[in-house]
Amino acid sequence: MASIARKQLCASGLFLVVLAVLAPGVMSRKLQEASTMAERHEQWMAQYGRVYKDDAERQRRLEIFSRNVDFIESFNAAGEKPYVLGVNAFADLTPEEFRASRNGYRRRVARSGEGSFRYENVTAVPKSMDWRKKGAVTPVKDQGQCGSCWAFSAIAATEGINQLTTGKLTSLSEQELVDCDIKGEDQGCEGGLMEDAFEFIIHNKGITTEANYPYAGSDGTCNSAKEASHVVKIKGYESVPANSEAALLKAVANQPVSVSIDAGDGSFQFYSGGVFTGSCGTMLDHGVTAVGYDTTEDGMKYWLVKNSWGTSWGEEGYVRMQRDIDAKEGLCGIAMDSSYPTA
Ligand SMILES: *[C@@H]1O[C@H](CO)[C@@H](O)[C@H](O)[C@H]1NC(C)=O
Repeated sequence: MASIARKQLCASGLFLVVLAVLAPGVMSRKLQEASTMAERHEQWMAQYGRVYKDDAERQRRLEIFSRNVDFIESFNAAGEKPYVLGVNAFADLTPEEFRASRNGYRRRVARSGEGSFRYENVTAVPKSMDWRKKGAVTPVKDQGQCGSCWAFSAIAATEGINQLTTGKLTSLSEQELVDCDIKGEDQGCEGGLMEDAFEFIIHNKGITTEANYPYAGSDGTCNSAKEASHVVKIKGYESVPANSEAALLKAVANQPVSVSIDAGDGSFQFYSGGVFTGSCGTMLDHGVTAVGYDTTEDGMKYWLVKNSWGTSWGEEGYVRMQRDIDAKEGLCGIAMDSSYPTA
């Protein structure tokens, strides 16, 4: 309720006058809060280098910012979950805008039968895994306002298997996928699928480095000279049997794995630390990479997941997501559609 009152307070000068006549005490407190929020918005704009095209846009963004800050602060004050939210770079976007500009995973309606699962017969897995500690994970990247999550997810898994087989960690090119892999479901900044990205890398006979074909964050024309630079190859890819966190565990114990999640909830947008337990559904809309798993000191199992929203989001760009929940789909559908490249 408070956020609605504040929104109207900011939106209408006339309303201010009426309030002042009716309740001067409330008025001055509300005005103070409002000006504090405007100041906070201004500081936030400076921190994240945000510039708006005009005053109307700035006002609109302030209202959204204000609603988000209220949501974040009341969530944290309630202290009911094992994770906290933060006022991050996405604080002036509505959940709808955020979903539209950031996610970009396009799920196939029906999946074709995808062959074998090489980790099927794995019986022993370590109690915990962190592929970062094994040197198989590049620093967190930032997809920007482009629905290229699928490319980042597929590239992170490819960087992983390449390091595991060659011993060398090489940062690879998402932009090559955005620009050159434009058939079927893969549509650059308009979304794509990790399995299709693996297929592109296989058929292209490799992929080039981040340094050679750096990320631009927008759709571009395929640079065929760079596309012809095949620095890292993969032989194939496999899917993890769906709806089994046990199967996903076997895979993640052996290499970083591309996973799909429902990241559409505001609590995911503003996640800043702890073990994420939802809320979220299973409408898969985001591709990320599972790079490990562990259990907290108080016994909560989690997946260690690399995101592509920069290091200011989450735990330095990572999220720990609750693992082994009752639902077979896993939290946010994490066990529904996973795959990994093979070398
Ligand atoms: C797992 O074991 C079964 C039974 O021995 C075998 O038929 C199957 O090929 C094995 N799977 C893999 C991926 O090695």
